[in-house]
Amino acid sequence: MLVLLLVAASLLCLPCAFAHAVPRPLARAAATSTAAAAAAHQTICGDIIDFVNNGFNIFYASDAYDCLTSVPFDPAVASRFIDYLNTTFLFQSTLAYLKNPPQGYQQPAVDFLQGLQLIQQNITAGYYTNEYAFEADLQILLYATHDAHVALTAGALSAFSFASPFAISSVSVDGKQLPKVYVTDDIIQSPGQAWQPSAIKSINGEDVTEYLTKFAALNSAGTLEPHADWNQLMTSPALDIQGSLSVFAGAATFYPGDDLAFVFENGTELDYNWLAIYDNPYPTGPLTTGGDFYNYFVLGLLPASYNETETFNPAYAPDSSTPQNSSSNSSSNSWYDDSDGAYPNPDISQQDLSTAGSGVVTGYLLHDISTAVLSLPTFQQSGWSVGNFSLAVQETINHGTAANLSRIIIDLQQNAGGTVELVFSTFRRFFPDIDPFAGSRRRSHELANVLGEILTGYWDNLTTNDAEYSIYAANEWVITDRLNAATGRNFTSWSEYFGPIAVQDDLFSLTERYNTSSEIFDEAAFNDWIPYGYTAENPAVATRPWDPENIVLLTDGLCSSACALFLEMMTQAGARTIAVGGRPTTGPMQAAGGNRGAVVYSADELDNDISFASSLNQTNSASLPQNRGDTGVFITYAGFNLRDQVRPNDTTPLQFKYEAADCRIYYTLSNLYNMSRLWRDVASATWNDPSLCVQGSTGYTSSHNTTAKAPPAPLAIQVPSLNPAIPDHVDFNLNATGDLTDGRTTPSSRSSTIVPCGSDKSCQEGAICSTISIKCSTGSLVERDLCLPPCRKTNTGDNCQGANTFCNANQQLKTKLATIKISSTNANNAFSPGVWAGFCNPTVGTPALGCPA
Ligand SMILES: *[C@@H]1O[C@H](CO)[C@@H](O)[C@H](O)[C@H]1NC(C)=O
Ligand SMILES: *[C@@H]1O[C@H](CO)[C@@H](O)[C@H](O)[C@H]1NC(C)=O
Ligand SMILES: *[C@@H]1O[C@H](CO)[C@@H](O)[C@H](O)[C@H]1NC(C)=O
Ligand SMILES: *[C@@H]1O[C@H](CO)[C@@H](O)[C@H](O)[C@H]1NC(C)=O
Ligand SMILES: *[C@@H]1O[C@H](CO)[C@@H](O)[C@H](O)[C@H]1NC(C)=O
Ligand SMILES: *[C@@H]1O[C@H](CO)[C@@H](O)[C@H](O)[C@H]1NC(C)=O
Ligand SMILES: *[C@@H]1O[C@H](CO)[C@@H](O)[C@H](O)[C@H]1NC(C)=O
Ligand SMILES: *[C@@H]1O[C@H](CO)[C@@H](O)[C@H](O)[C@H]1NC(C)=O
Ligand SMILES: *[C@@H]1O[C@H](CO)[C@@H](O)[C@H](O)[C@H]1NC(C)=O
Ligand SMILES: *[C@@H]1O[C@H](CO)[C@@H](O)[C@H](O)[C@H]1NC(C)=O
Ligand SMILES: *[C@@H]1O[C@H](CO)[C@@H](O)[C@H](O)[C@H]1NC(C)=O
Ligand SMILES: *[C@@H]1O[C@H](CO)[C@@H](O)[C@H](O)[C@H]1NC(C)=O
Repeated sequence: MLVLLLVAASLLCLPCAFAHAVPRPLARAAATSTAAAAAAHQTICGDIIDFVNNGFNIFYASDAYDCLTSVPFDPAVASRFIDYLNTTFLFQSTLAYLKNPPQGYQQPAVDFLQGLQLIQQNITAGYYTNEYAFEADLQILLYATHDAHVALTAGALSAFSFASPFAISSVSVDGKQLPKVYVTDDIIQSPGQAWQPSAIKSINGEDVTEYLTKFAALNSAGTLEPHADWNQLMTSPALDIQGSLSVFAGAATFYPGDDLAFVFENGTELDYNWLAIYDNPYPTGPLTTGGDFYNYFVLGLLPASYNETETFNPAYAPDSSTPQNSSSNSSSNSWYDDSDGAYPNPDISQQDLSTAGSGVVTGYLLHDISTAVLSLPTFQQSGWSVGNFSLAVQETINHGTAANLSRIIIDLQQNAGGTVELVFSTFRRFFPDIDPFAGSRRRSHELANVLGEILTGYWDNLTTNDAEYSIYAANEWVITDRLNAATGRNFTSWSEYFGPIAVQDDLFSLTERYNTSSEIFDEAAFNDWIPYGYTAENPAVATRPWDPENIVLLTDGLCSSACALFLEMMTQAGARTIAVGGRPTTGPMQAAGGNRGAVVYSADELDNDISFASSLNQTNSASLPQNRGDTGVFITYAGFNLRDQVRPNDTTPLQFKYEAADCRIYYTLSNLYNMSRLWRDVASATWNDPSLCVQGSTGYTSSHNTTAKAPPAPLAIQVPSLNPAIPDHVDFNLNATGDLTDGRTTPSSRSSTIVPCGSDKSCQEGAICSTISIKCSTGSLVERDLCLPPCRKTNTGDNCQGANTFCNANQQLKTKLATIKISSTNANNAFSPGVWAGFCNPTVGTPALGCPA
């Protein structure tokens, strides 16, 4: 099995390979121009891997889709996978709330376990004819939890993500008018220029807001409301400095189609193709068919010819043309270069600050407005960088107070969480006099009970001298060194904790708290770090650097997990929040729109617990599942939310409470890539002029205002349905005289002509009469009933693949002059997805086909 994948997964920096979304030479173009063409594989998957092995990782999305849909489907493997997930997700703490969400929840309800059942029914019914169709349905179900702790990296879908060649951002021209969507590069380049960027009006003929709303509902994962889903599509400096890609320009999960046509408000039209990024950095050896893809990505089997001395495939091997020395740029200790000049040079920066380095914290002293800024784009730190993070936080506080700055902005844009120790530590540096409440609880079900009984019983029996005592002190199933929130004392037994307490048609444990004043617990829970301010050895100093009303937390709604806990603690202490961005509407926005649970747990960790517990108690192990080693599909990572965060004496998980920011502002053309401007806008809206807040965005906060307004009604956004078995469009070719020919057949039979259907919609044998719309050169669409020849797939290869996707030297590869969409399908027509077919002939749709002359 792929041990390598597991070991090195945390070292990945995939986005770094794709920094500005510049497509590499396209696979198909290269194929004709190199000798490799002669040896080209018979299948699109084989071609792609060939190019990966020659250093390419960007492909046309439709090529990736053709490959994914050529990967076969094995119902038995898929059923074992569903069974494994069905057991794993018994531990997902929010199942009952997802099924029947309380008022204020902004996303649609989902019955998760029933969803698994429906997918299993589809497997059994033979509905899935390829692996993509199955995995896409499963990912849609996982995304419907809108829980960033729920994640699955497995199977064929883990091979690619989809990308627009251009990043986009949503900004208001002046902070008052509703935001519009722009190409990010236009915003970056426009300051000081005579021209103004023009906003995108439509994408693929659809109003830009409608198109992106659907795109976000489908592809944005793990956020609690459409504003946050929207912001996930957008590029910003806080994303750039993490070396990450937006969902729109690199991290989309589902095949978005082939064409990507922007029309701008100034009338300019730009046509592109969706791209796919091959995400697997590890060598696969020579995979040639969809079946090989299945073996590698779905079963985790390496081909016989796998060369184990190679660590990365050439597409991800360190690039010799750029310096391999990541510290060469870190001496600048600034995000200035990484953010196109958006971040000014900081006054304080964490050691090894750089996109490739471990440092993330910067501090800024804005003397003119008497405000300090502490930028925390993530809490994700490990090893010594945990200490360095805290050092930079403390230094920023020290410099800010020494300079008598009267207030502070804590910038949490893009902060997706990380190390909880840093949350406890950082909180205490601001509020040394407050013991923050971080209470949590989990689902009480039989499997959890067995694990807890065995592992807590085992640990209770150890003495402090046993090595295992500290090793297991923070194990999730050892409860007696954690605090009962109701009493403030350790739980005395697993059964005291287990409850079960009946709420919301489900059963839950009592509420637990970390015993942060215990060094034994801290060291076990926080990798040997002791958070600042909780123990006698590392006590807090007595004074607050700023009063709570002089602290504001800035987020873009994507604050998740550890960030959400930090926000909860800080707001409970009285700090304010301001959210930036969101959909082009007025009204409020939540500050922590990501996961607000207490702990993410992986299926791997759970399996270790189950196997350890089984080894400890032969009697009880009979009630633990014995088949956890069989996951069906090979899993790189599967995660779920083990514990809910709950407030004192509350039962509703924080995840399901509507918690608007105190104020919301828009990004603007002038502040998106100018952090000094943005922070000044934040300060003005927070402390000087509340009328700068977006209309109708204030007064909703409930955490410290009992008379707050009721949460807004959720938007009724439908997740667009996928129907991967039948493509939404197929591309055709024009021959040299401008006639339409089938682009999907083998070269020898390629010239087959598309003919109109008979009057009774009849066609020659094998062809199907379909109503298709043809895009003419004038831009107009005509509808015709045409006979489309079926495209056949064989076990040995894909004869649908047209070699005519290449263009000769004086014709433009990317020009696509006609797109045909199948608007009627019938169950038997069995259209295989069309291969990408670029039209090289500059003429288009002749009068014969009904286009205006
Ligand atoms: C999940 O497990 C439950 C029993 O815990 C079972 O009733 C259900 O059929 C299973 N669902 C699937 C899809 O296997
Ligand atoms: C199951 O298959 C049907 C078509 O028979 C499809 O419409 C539905 O979306 C599938 N269900 C799930 C949960 O994916
Ligand atoms: C229209 O606006 C777009 C986007 O800002 C820009 O790329 C294009 O050059 C503009 N076209 C004209 C004719 O100004
Ligand atoms: C395996 O990879 C190593 C390192 O790239 C190379 O030196 C060696 O020749 C390869 N072996 C085979 C059998 O391809
Ligand atoms: C990395 O860069 C620094 C600064 O330019 C230099 O001193 C150091 O020798 C380089 N290290 C390597 C391994 O090239
Ligand atoms: C970072 O490295 C790049 C490439 O070597 C160089 O162009 C740039 O000037 C460097 N920036 C700093 C701040 O050193
Ligand atoms: C506790 O330890 C004793 C002695 O080693 C052993 O007999 C007993 O089974 C242990 N109990 C548990 C719950 O592990
Ligand atoms: C409570 O648990 C802590 C570890 O978190 C431990 O140090 C302490 O001794 C326990 N207290 C009691 C009374 O058992
Ligand atoms: C909950 O309420 C009870 C009774 O008012 C109180 O004793 C307890 O400390 C409160 N807090 C928690 C966390 O249970
Ligand atoms: C195993 O579990 C059973 C039932 O909970 C318990 O009675 C027994 O003492 C346990 N045995 C050990 C060795 O812990
Ligand atoms: C509480 O909310 C109400 C209603 O929006 C508002 O009028 C009032 O100013 C708020 N009070 C505080 C202290 O924020
Ligand atoms: C293009 O297709 C039409 C219709 O089949 C045919 O009559 C014509 O000869 C073709 N032209 C070329 C150059 O192949």
